[in-house]
Amino acid sequence: MQNIKVIESGTYSVFIGDRSLKSFEDYTNKKDYSAAYILADENTAHHCLDIFLAFNSNSTIVSSAPIIKIQPGESNKNIHTVTEIAKELSAHNADRNSLLINLGGGVLCDIGGFAASIYKRGIDFINLPTTLLSQVDASIGGKVGVDLEGMKNFIGVFNDPKAVFILPRFLKTLNKRQINSGYAEILKHGLIADKTYWNKIKKPNVAANLSDVIFRSVEIKNNIVTKDPREQGVRKMLNFGHTIGHALETFYMNKSEQLLHGEAVGIGMICEAFISVEDAGLSREVLREITDCIIAVFGKYKLNGLEIADLIELMKKDKKNIGDKINFTLLNDIGKAKIDRYANSDLIRASINYYREISQE
Ligand SMILES: NC(=O)c1ccc[n+]([C@@H]2O[C@H](COP(=O)([O-])OP(=O)(O)OC[C@H]3O[C@@H](n4cnc5c(N)ncnc54)[C@H](O)[C@@H]3O)[C@@H](O)[C@H]2O)c1
Repeated sequence: MQNIKVIESGTYSVFIGDRSLKSFEDYTNKKDYSAAYILADENTAHHCLDIFLAFNSNSTIVSSAPIIKIQPGESNKNIHTVTEIAKELSAHNADRNSLLINLGGGVLCDIGGFAASIYKRGIDFINLPTTLLSQVDASIGGKVGVDLEGMKNFIGVFNDPKAVFILPRFLKTLNKRQINSGYAEILKHGLIADKTYWNKIKKPNVAANLSDVIFRSVEIKNNIVTKDPREQGVRKMLNFGHTIGHALETFYMNKSEQLLHGEAVGIGMICEAFISVEDAGLSREVLREITDCIIAVFGKYKLNGLEIADLIELMKKDKKNIGDKINFTLLNDIGKAKIDRYANSDLIRASINYYREISQE
């Protein structure tokens, strides 16, 4: 992608394109930061750091930036990692006028954004998302935080980055499983907000040319989060697939057979589409269409060892719930989401059994 596209998101801009780092230099030149710090994990330090540094070779603030490295993976998305980052920042005498540059996937952007939000009561941060999932979803919208004993995103705040730079070229080193994981959020964007987009992305070969898809997905997410930054209403649409998805991700977190975020959300979307037939007027025909598309991307998971009762207990702890009712976003049709729906345990159980049945086909 040669051209730079810009999407305005409230107080900050999202720059999309392989040459968008040109605007990064413009941004840091305008600000009077005392120092910058680059947060990376061992994979992004290996695959992405040199690309970033090469683009900014004339920038003193970037070339002198210390690199803070964390371990990759959801199991490190916890308060302990945040404390380690704060200690490193402090060891480098980072003051309140510092900038944290998050170079990584959704896990790193979530952790780094949260660490920046609470270090000395808050310093600026910029996201450079390096996975498909973080480029189309996690790096924008201002939700930052960490898990608490496996419970997803239990500790966190809403706090926007100062800018986001999306370079599709980072995706060249990402494996197919991680690309597919990001594709789940792209499919979700079509399902909740745009039937025409869904009809385009549901065809399996679209994943080959991702640049346009990244732009449209960022546009959809951005339209939603700028209307409702604090998730009081319409932003809940983005939770489609995530009530069951987060519980599955937590259930398998420390097991030998782990599910990536997008894989869990993919299964969650099939189950929640099933619940939508019972509770939101979705047709069986559309349920089948959604099921077939998601299975074509992800294949079929056996869900070994899964006890539905345990899964429901995890859903009861979901931070989206009010009281003891489990909150869902459901679909009335493709492109038409219904927020604040509730499903009882029998229906949730039936939805998991539906997934298990179609996985046997
Ligand atoms: N804040 C939000 O709004 C939001 C939205 C959706 C998801 N999330 C969160 O995002 C997380 C998932 O993010 P993810 O899917 O990006 O996973 P991830 O951050 O764990 O990255 C996946 C793996 O790819 C590696 N990696 C990253 N970039 C790479 C590159 N360019 N080349 C090679 N390897 C690379 C990482 O080191 C990691 O091992 C979950 O914790 C989820 O809760 C947050």
